[in-house]
Amino acid sequence: MDKAESKPAAKTGAGLEGVVAAESAIGDVDGVNGVLIYQGLNIHDLAEHSTFEETVYLLWHGRLPKRDELDALKQELSANLRLPEEVIELMRRFPAKAEPMDALRTAVSALGFYDPGGRDLSREGALRTAARLTAQLPVVVAAFGRLRDGQEPVESRADFNIATNFLYMLKGEEPEEREARIFDQCLILHADHELNASTFTSRVIAGTLADMYGAVTGAIAALSGPLHGGANTNVMKMLLEIGEPARADEWLAEALASKKKIMGFGHRVYKTEDPRSVWLRRFSRELAEAKGETRWIEILERLRELMFAEKKLYPNVDYYSGSAYYLMGIPLDLFTPIFAVSRISGWTGHVLEQYANNRLIRPRAEYIGPRDVKYVPIDER
Ligand code: ACO
Repeated sequence: MDKAESKPAAKTGAGLEGVVAAESAIGDVDGVNGVLIYQGLNIHDLAEHSTFEETVYLLWHGRLPKRDELDALKQELSANLRLPEEVIELMRRFPAKAEPMDALRTAVSALGFYDPGGRDLSREGALRTAARLTAQLPVVVAAFGRLRDGQEPVESRADFNIATNFLYMLKGEEPEEREARIFDQCLILHADHELNASTFTSRVIAGTLADMYGAVTGAIAALSGPLHGGANTNVMKMLLEIGEPARADEWLAEALASKKKIMGFGHRVYKTEDPRSVWLRRFSRELAEAKGETRWIEILERLRELMFAEKKLYPNVDYYSGSAYYLMGIPLDLFTPIFAVSRISGWTGHVLEQYANNRLIRPRAEYIGPRDVKYVPIDER
C-alpha cells in the first residue's frame, strides 16, 4: 500500500462534530427538535414520574424495573454505601483547597484498590461494580465537602434514596421533602446524554478492557472541564459577579464585546432549547420564590433573552442547575461533582454496553506535520 492508500480518505470536522462513533441503545439526543430519550422514554416523562433509582435501572437494563427488581436495586445500592476506611483516610489528607472534582477523581480511582471484584468485566461483575460506584460517588462528594471544612462525614441512611441521602450527608440534617424531590429530578435529568465528552471518554477507556474504575476516573476528568460539566459552577460565579438584574445588560454587552464565551449557552448537538433546561428553569424559579430570592432567576432570564437576540443561542443543561443548587445551600464547587453523582449512571450504562460488544476504539489522525526530516546531532542544531 502506498502512502495515499494507507488511510481512509474521510476527514472529520474539528472536535469530531457530526461523527457517529458508536452504536448505542441507551439514549438519543435529537438536537433539531430538542428531544432527549433514555432507552426510548422521553426525558419529560421520566423527570415527571420516575425516580433516579428507577432511571438507573432503565439505563443499565434497557427497560423500567418491576417493583421487585427496583427493590433489589435499592437494596444493593444501600448495601454499598459504606466507603472503605482507607479511602476516608486518604480524603482526610487531601488539601482542603483541592478542587472537589480532583478529589472525586482521586477517590474513585482509589476505590478500585478495595474492590476485589473490580476487574470482573462480565455482565454480572460489571453490574455489581456499577452499583457500587453509583452508591459510593455521592458518599465521596458529601464526605469531601465536609472533611475540607474540618467536619466529620455524616453516616449515610439506608432508608433514604440517593438524592435525600446526598443532601443529608452533606448538610447533616434531613432535607425538606420538596427540595429532595427536586434534587432527585435533577439527578434524572443529568443521568445520560449519549456520546458527550465524558461518556465517550469512559467508552474509549472501557474499550481497552480496562476496569470500570479506570473508565469512570477518566470520565470524571473529562466532565470537570469548563466546556463540559464545569460550566454549572461558572454560571453561578457569573451570576454572583453580575449581582443585580439591572446590571445584566451592561455585563453581557461587555462580555460579548471582549469575545467571552458565556457559560451555560450553546451546545454541540442542540440547535433548539435543551429539554432538560425547561425543567431546571422551573426548579430554579420555584426555589427562588420559595426562598424569596429571585435575583438569580431574573438575571438568568434577562441573559437568556439577550443571548437569543444577539447570538441565537439557547441555554444548555448547566445554565439553570447552578442557581437551583445554590438556593439549596450547596457550595458552588460541588455543582460539577453533583453532575458526576448523576452521570455515573450513564457512564456505567455505556461501559456495560461497551463490554458487552467490545471492539478497541482506535481511530486515525490525519498527519499534518512534515515528513523526511533529517536527524541533526544535538551539537549541530
Ligand atoms: N457564548 C458565546 N458564544 C458562543 C457560546 C457561548 N456560550 N457558545 C457558542 N458560541 C459561539 C462561538 O463563539 C462560535 O461562534 P463563531 O462561529 O462566530 O466563532 C459558535 O457559537 C459555535 O461555537 P463552538 O464553540 O464552535 O461550538 P462547539 O459545538 O464547539 O461548542 C460548547 C459547544 C462547548 C458547549 C460551547 O457552546 C461553549 O463553550 N459553551 C459555553 C460552555 C458551556 O456552557 N458548556 C456546557 C455544555 S453542556 C454540557 O457539557 C453538560
